[in-house]
Amino acid sequence: MDHYHLHPFDHNSLVEEDIQTLEGGLAPKKVLIKSYGCQMNVYESEKIAKLLGPLGYAQTESLNEANLVVLNTCHIREKAAEKIYSEIGRLKDAREEALDKGRGRMEIVVAGCVAQAEGAEILNRAPAVDYVVGPQSLHQLPELLLAGVERQGFRRPQSDRIRTDFDPIAKFRALNTGSQNRINSRAPTAFLSVQEGCDKFCTFCVVPYTRGAEWSRPMADIITEAQILADQGVREITLLGQNVNAYNGLVKSGAGARSSLAELLWALSEIKGLDRLRYTTSHPNDMSDDLLDCHKQLATLMPYLHLPVQSGSDRILKAMNRRHTAKDYSDIIARVREVRPDIAISGDFIVGFPGECESDFEQTLELVKSINYASAYWFKYSPRPGTPAADLSDQINEAVKDERLQTLQTLLLSQQEAFKAELVGQTLDVLFEKKGRQDNQAIGRSPYLQSVFVDNADHLIGQIVPVRISALSPNSLKGTL
Ligand code: 5AD
Ligand code: SF4
Repeated sequence: MDHYHLHPFDHNSLVEEDIQTLEGGLAPKKVLIKSYGCQMNVYESEKIAKLLGPLGYAQTESLNEANLVVLNTCHIREKAAEKIYSEIGRLKDAREEALDKGRGRMEIVVAGCVAQAEGAEILNRAPAVDYVVGPQSLHQLPELLLAGVERQGFRRPQSDRIRTDFDPIAKFRALNTGSQNRINSRAPTAFLSVQEGCDKFCTFCVVPYTRGAEWSRPMADIITEAQILADQGVREITLLGQNVNAYNGLVKSGAGARSSLAELLWALSEIKGLDRLRYTTSHPNDMSDDLLDCHKQLATLMPYLHLPVQSGSDRILKAMNRRHTAKDYSDIIARVREVRPDIAISGDFIVGFPGECESDFEQTLELVKSINYASAYWFKYSPRPGTPAADLSDQINEAVKDERLQTLQTLLLSQQEAFKAELVGQTLDVLFEKKGRQDNQAIGRSPYLQSVFVDNADHLIGQIVPVRISALSPNSLKGTL
């Protein structure tokens, strides 16, 4: 699976950039940050690294030299959340080893959505954890670390080691002051968080509880951050939000006029050097006319739309509180394709939502067949504590979920392959992002977001170059200059 839009994927990614440590004063320390789940966590992990720079922490990817480990966690499905506890088990062993080798006590932080959802429960279940910090309180991590785990020889009470306030304004201010944005080198693509939280309350979803109410950053702040990224050589920015197309930020912080996502995209397209814009993830009900118009008029907006539908059955959509029908969704896709016929459509699907019968599932398959997806993400329904759907009586058994998932996956994968096959023989603009495994090979992205491997292209990293697509390969394309 590709992991390019705002929702969880089950892998860990380490944040790559180095951070600067303060000269003199504090002893050099190392922090290992592990990011789980969606791209917003990847974005925020990078910000955490910069936040810890002034405390003397440099980033490491090696547990063997870490003095501090931050797990930036995901709570969207049970599997993602449970993974954290097995990881903490491993960290406990690493802590022992660090002590044995005289490296001192390694501190452990659980940050992100599990921290928000479970709070003190984490400290009860995994006493090895030192601090718990929710996604909207990340900026409070330095003060927690400075206060320390102990006071006068005693472990501080739990309440002193947990921060879970919803405070997005203070958070973004702290995450984006002055030097936080300055770094030495970076990839030609970047994420930029513009909106956070969700007011939609789909009955299966924890996001409204873990990330809080919908909140949009002021447009002026976003433009400043984008300009800094462009100055550093970033050519493509993906705007992030749990409901990004509901973006409704103040034009300038304080008070006054507000901007839509479309207006924000137009403003960002003015920034020199920023050649590609993307946004993710969206709700069908917020696909406004001005946003559709961007897909028609705005050349820098890439022809890719991730628009989750979850199910093709109106009965299930209603039980999910999606507030749209399968036809509403199809109509929106038709309108997007009218203005941008080549657009790559992507979606999210849940199988086995409580009460889903064979005919509901059939309707999902029918919808998928009629839409034809270029990419997609499919999940088995996972009951999440505190969400309304978890309390429904007609839960579907795992074997049925597995079978439906398999059927849906086969269909979506075949559509994905067919979309890629259509691209063979075409010449596409590829933004080269990094070196490939083989000598002189470079990997980039097509406008439709597939990875493209090209030989003898490593000197082109950071550039957008026309590439002739020559062949299909698993999960990607091959091309020649
Ligand atoms: N179970 C399974 N999948 C879920 N998603 C969100 N909550 C759940 C859940 N409880 C999926 C949806 C959403 C994506 C981010 O994750 O498809 O669009
Ligand atoms: Fe969750 Fe629905 Fe909000 Fe998406 S729109 S974050 S699925 S509640």
